[in-house]
Amino acid sequence: MTAQLIDGKHISQQIIEQVKLRVEARHERGKRAPGLAVVRVGEDSASRIYVRNKLKACERCQVNSFSHEVPASTSQQDLLALIDRLNRDPAVDGILVQLPLPDHIDSDAVTDGIDPSKDVDGFHPYNIGRLMLGLAGLRPCTPRGVMTLLQRTGITIDGKDAVILGRSNIVGRPMALELLHAGATITVCHSRTRDLPEKVAQADLVVAALGKPHFVQGSWVKYGAIVIDVGINRLNDGSLAGDVDFEAVRQRASWITPVPGGVGPMTVASLLENTLQAAENRDPDSS
Ligand code: GUN
Repeated sequence: MTAQLIDGKHISQQIIEQVKLRVEARHERGKRAPGLAVVRVGEDSASRIYVRNKLKACERCQVNSFSHEVPASTSQQDLLALIDRLNRDPAVDGILVQLPLPDHIDSDAVTDGIDPSKDVDGFHPYNIGRLMLGLAGLRPCTPRGVMTLLQRTGITIDGKDAVILGRSNIVGRPMALELLHAGATITVCHSRTRDLPEKVAQADLVVAALGKPHFVQGSWVKYGAIVIDVGINRLNDGSLAGDVDFEAVRQRASWITPVPGGVGPMTVASLLENTLQAAENRDPDSS
């Protein structure tokens, strides 16, 4: 068996096109364009690329972007003051502070400081609580993007055994909740998990989000499983690798996401969906 590819690049372009059409429809109804503020602290090279991709996607959907690049030496107090200004700025519907932050800044305090109605990352405890309860809210972008990929590919989640590798607040934990709400039975594996290959071997659906290049081996994967690779690891030669040994795993899986061109572009597309959703929530049609 050779797996079919789940084309995240193509599906993300469809989502971005849909956001663009909805922004244009808002314009025709006399509404302003949604606005996204993106804050980058310091000079992390991966963050620089991610932020650039997010700002480019805003341009493609006619979403206004406000880029704030602040030095690594910025104090937590000054960063919180910037967030407070953005919270009160009526032109800003969404606020994203790119992670990781320098060590002297408490990222939980920063997340807590963002108005939950503008929390387009979906990381605020209010939005995570709503996700936990299965209520509508702003959902973390990468898990939202994975759910969109599965839906658009016509993959049914209900009743599947899903194994998630990684328990981060950004991907693993919210991914588990999304899949649970969709009817999967979930196992979350992490650095303390014993017999990890055996757990992976039970899975109809594997989501790898642990940040270790080529970690998931072909021999671990059940024939016919669906494999979603969230990893974006920069190798010494400058190339990108996922968390899955792609060539070996594709021989056994039924569907697989490539890296690049799988989950990565979906994170950006979901951010745009969240920004539009935040604008519509703050500025609903009254007529
Ligand atoms: N760093 C890695 N992924 C993300 C993300 O989805 N949002 C933010 N803000 N930072 C990140």
